[in-house]
Amino acid sequence: MHPYILKAPAKINLYLEIVGDRPDGYHEVVMVLQSIDLADEVELHPLSGKTIRLHCDQPHLPQDQTNLAWKAAALMQQHYPDHGGVEIALRKSIPIGAGLAGGSTNAAAVLVGLNLMWDLGLTQAELRDLASQLGSDVPFCITGGTALAVGRGEILSPLPDLDGLPVVLGKFRQLSVSTAWAYQTFRTHFSHSEAELQALRGQASQMLSAIAARDFQRIGRFLYNDLEQVVLPAHETVARLRSQFQAQAVIGTMMSGSGPTVFALCQDLAQAQQVEATTRQAFAQSDLETWVTQLCVGGIQVVG
Ligand code: C5P
Repeated sequence: MHPYILKAPAKINLYLEIVGDRPDGYHEVVMVLQSIDLADEVELHPLSGKTIRLHCDQPHLPQDQTNLAWKAAALMQQHYPDHGGVEIALRKSIPIGAGLAGGSTNAAAVLVGLNLMWDLGLTQAELRDLASQLGSDVPFCITGGTALAVGRGEILSPLPDLDGLPVVLGKFRQLSVSTAWAYQTFRTHFSHSEAELQALRGQASQMLSAIAARDFQRIGRFLYNDLEQVVLPAHETVARLRSQFQAQAVIGTMMSGSGPTVFALCQDLAQAQQVEATTRQAFAQSDLETWVTQLCVGGIQVVG
């Protein structure tokens, strides 16, 4: 058994529609999920016994059994008890509580890494099954790329790759949004009428045909996120950030997942760098953090 270093990419939501409530307290969704190059590094070392140890270069992130990466290791030990312990080191680049699936992708990396370290030979489908016990976005993070997600987000169909398109991300450092809060607030204050659901079905199919054609201008037009209705009114700065992106003739802009990260799809790298510079200037008095990255193929990858 030797150590593994894995690259764990973040995701953005090109489309997030809440179709309805579910008896299990979750929501039925239709999403288009997209991996981006912004990624954490997850390093795994074998330990003797059943010990799980976790370190992270972000001291305010929990480093105990409440961390999803720890839970992933514990789940693997529970299913495959003949194998040993593991030391997990998380090197974070993905902001936390951001709507970018940072915690989910770390957990996905632990599943993929332990499958290799313990030589279990699990298929991607078997790994995604385990992943769905950890969280709705974890199965997607295993395979990544571009995918349609339904159910609570765990039922996936691959879509044609959209790699290479530059994207700018913006997030206010001190602002995090709880996914549970965002969904719960949507449930309490909003719901779609039958007519709205029908209109959204049209929008979703337009998005899918734009993706099939790799027509980025149309993808930009059909970006959608129901949770913007919850998060933007509650956080005026996030709404201003979105307007700032929109004013710069980007291909399209939208909040990712339950936010508060806002992304802007850009025509090319030069535009992405210009948008980033202008936006930083406009929010110079705030704690805005920005990233220029790109859409990418694939999910968890072994890098060492
Ligand atoms: O699945 P995960 O643990 O990542 O979800 C976090 C929270 O987001 C859930 O506890 C639930 O409140 C909400 N959620 C939801 N419907 C979904 C996905 C998440 O209500 N499809």
